[in-house]
Amino acid sequence: MAEIIPSPSLLATLNGKVAVLTGGANGIGAATVRLLTSLGAKVIFCDLDATHGEALASELGPEKAIFVKADVTDYGEQYALFRTALAAWGKVDVVIANAGIIEQGNIFGLTEDLSQPPSMAVLDVNLKAVIYTARLGVGFMRQTGGGTLVLLSSMGGFRGNPGVWVYVASKHGVYGLMRCLRSVAAPQWGISVNVICPSMTKTGMVDAIEDIWNKAALPANDASDVAMGIATAATANNGDGRPGAAKPFNGKALFISGSRFYEIEDNIDRLEPEWLGEQNSQDLFKLKEALGSGEIWDSKQ
Ligand SMILES: NC(=O)c1ccc[n+]([C@@H]2O[C@H](COP(=O)([O-])OP(=O)(O)OC[C@H]3O[C@@H](n4cnc5c(N)ncnc54)[C@H](O)[C@@H]3O)[C@@H](O)[C@H]2O)c1
Repeated sequence: MAEIIPSPSLLATLNGKVAVLTGGANGIGAATVRLLTSLGAKVIFCDLDATHGEALASELGPEKAIFVKADVTDYGEQYALFRTALAAWGKVDVVIANAGIIEQGNIFGLTEDLSQPPSMAVLDVNLKAVIYTARLGVGFMRQTGGGTLVLLSSMGGFRGNPGVWVYVASKHGVYGLMRCLRSVAAPQWGISVNVICPSMTKTGMVDAIEDIWNKAALPANDASDVAMGIATAATANNGDGRPGAAKPFNGKALFISGSRFYEIEDNIDRLEPEWLGEQNSQDLFKLKEALGSGEIWDSKQ
């Protein structure tokens, strides 16, 4: 496992880049808007929360930041967000799928009314809308020569956390989307894709567990730490990889804990013959080679 140290010279390459970010009015998204603009990037961001979104955009000024009120679960509203970026600044270089919500209630609770379907709002915001953002991001960045796609997963994207069942399923889904995209988007379209997997980060989303976290003396993050991880992933196309991580810096997962950044996907790949078995690993490698970019699924429709 490699600890990734953010590089000031690589972060400086964000100067002049155009970033599209979802969920930028509060928490990690707002910290990322602040960090990227402080590095010289222009950011267009959306949120449902127009009060905080507009306040942040007007504080930073229209040369640096544009706020668009949009619901990420509405494809048309996300499309309009990307069109606005193109109209304002002529290109899209960085796309960050950040908007997310946490689960309310317990769909497996014994007092649940089983005659009614549970709410799938978490899946809609955290996975369906992230697929929308990724699709639009790839489509718009391909038009202007490539870029970087950064998807917010979570520590719940690679571990189970009982109680937030749908949240964890959604974040595993985001992680899986990265694993599909990485072998095509970077080599064929010039778009690096990486996931960010923060542990507990002090934002409104996790008020409910902050006390438990602190009592257990577990390492926590500030929103600005996660913003730094996102900015680091946003520079993935620049530099010669990252010390300790396999090259290129594509298809990685950055676990962020106690304000430190750890690349965790390389070892999962490297140790596959151990956890999956040598023969199974070889067979699945052959299958991957045979399926290539996956066009076979199109041609069979
Ligand atoms: N805080 C943590 O401990 C933590 C840990 C791991 C991953 N994450 C992930 O980081 C991301 C940001 O979370 P945060 O902690 O900053 O939460 P937050 O609640 O502070 O901010 C989330 C933002 O997303 C916006 N949003 C929610 N639904 C939306 C919708 N339908 N359309 C547009 N905007 C919408 C909210 O209005 C809010 O501004 C999320 O994807 C979250 O799952 C957070």
